[in-house]
Amino acid sequence: MLDVKKIRKDFPILSRKIHGKPLVYLDSSATTQKPRQVISAMDRYYRRHNANVHRGVHTLSGEATEMVERARASVARFIGASSSDEVIFVRNATEGVNLIRYAWGEQNIGSGDSVVVTMMEHHSNFVPWQQLAKQKGAAFKIADVTDDGRLKIFDESGSMQQVDGAVVGTLEDLLDERVKVVGITHVSNVLGTINPLSDIIPLVRKKAPQALVVVDAAQSVPHMPVDIKRIGADFLVFSGHKMLGPTGIGVLWGRRELLDAMPPFLFGGDMISEVGLSDTVWNRLPWKFEAGTPNMAGMVGMEACCQYLRSVGMQLIRQHEQELVSYALTKLQVFEKEGFLTLYGVRDASVRGGVVTFNVAGVHAHDTAQVLDSEGIAVRSGHHCAMPLARRLGVVATVRASFYIYTLQEEIDRLADGLLKVRRVFKV
Ligand SMILES: Cc1ncc(COP(=O)(O)O)c(C=O)c1O
Repeated sequence: MLDVKKIRKDFPILSRKIHGKPLVYLDSSATTQKPRQVISAMDRYYRRHNANVHRGVHTLSGEATEMVERARASVARFIGASSSDEVIFVRNATEGVNLIRYAWGEQNIGSGDSVVVTMMEHHSNFVPWQQLAKQKGAAFKIADVTDDGRLKIFDESGSMQQVDGAVVGTLEDLLDERVKVVGITHVSNVLGTINPLSDIIPLVRKKAPQALVVVDAAQSVPHMPVDIKRIGADFLVFSGHKMLGPTGIGVLWGRRELLDAMPPFLFGGDMISEVGLSDTVWNRLPWKFEAGTPNMAGMVGMEACCQYLRSVGMQLIRQHEQELVSYALTKLQVFEKEGFLTLYGVRDASVRGGVVTFNVAGVHAHDTAQVLDSEGIAVRSGHHCAMPLARRLGVVATVRASFYIYTLQEEIDRLADGLLKVRRVFKV
């Protein structure tokens, strides 16, 4: 069991009051709060070691270079990568997907090819592929979800249909030799659905042997043990700010032979080994993809958050969130039976991340979130950057409460009390 009360002492922001009430922070899927260990690692970097990396021969530059490369090795260990050369620092998960889209997609996708994503993608793993397909004249295909938000993986014959110019169907039906890329989220940021990658990736390999698999791990790497080798994907992206780390730093992991074969994404300093008047030779991995002065303090923050999460234990974090989501579902299902609340997503906490998503009957999600805020409770409302999924579920907006390492069971009781207030205010 996690000692959540002890963990909370590491997070200065959690002692804040909002509207005179203790803050209940249930918006960790959007961004997480930062422990003092991460804050002070970055503070220490700026106070004692700051200098530009990879360039200077002076002591500070050497220290800074050593720190950022140690951070890279730490991230590589955290996800089980075989080499830190395969860990590219980017700004966030979104930039990671765009890097793949430009550096790999530009050269490898053409008319006659297909691009497949899922209906539950965050826009960051949806729009880049949609736009690439559009520009290249490739087919854009979307694997559908069930009404309770599970991915439709295996053949459900006759389910393929044309919706708004895109092909929508069961994943298995969409896969064939023409598919060049499959973009899939590991965990849905809206519903918390955990996609069974151990079923999905072998299916892709079998039915679409040419396809590369791009896994959006923005909501899995922070919350459960993720081992790159076991997953067997080609690329994987995640963001530091969703795993107790700073904003402005994220990771693209890719298989070395793919990264080696790809041209750079951005041009400039650091990504070169030799510049002549008429041509340039690229630097080796990972720096080929890191043009310009990198976010050194961000990288140091990444190392600190990986260390923090490792010291707590990813399996324990997953267990803690599973218990919280199970508790929250039980509480909210009572409201659902009373007819004033609709819950979305699977009810089985063993295949669901630490997220509950709902609407109060007849009340807009923003109104619900505002009343909850008046009780000091921070939740997210809206489409959660997944408009195709909202449309598929037949809603314009939902309320999402998301949990993490510092969430207490009592805070879910506070959420439930807050929802009773919403009910009273709106006379539902
Ligand atoms: C599943 C998922 N993918 C990608 C992203 C994008 O992350 P970022 O905005 O850090 O690039 C998010 C952020 O909410 C997300 O939840």
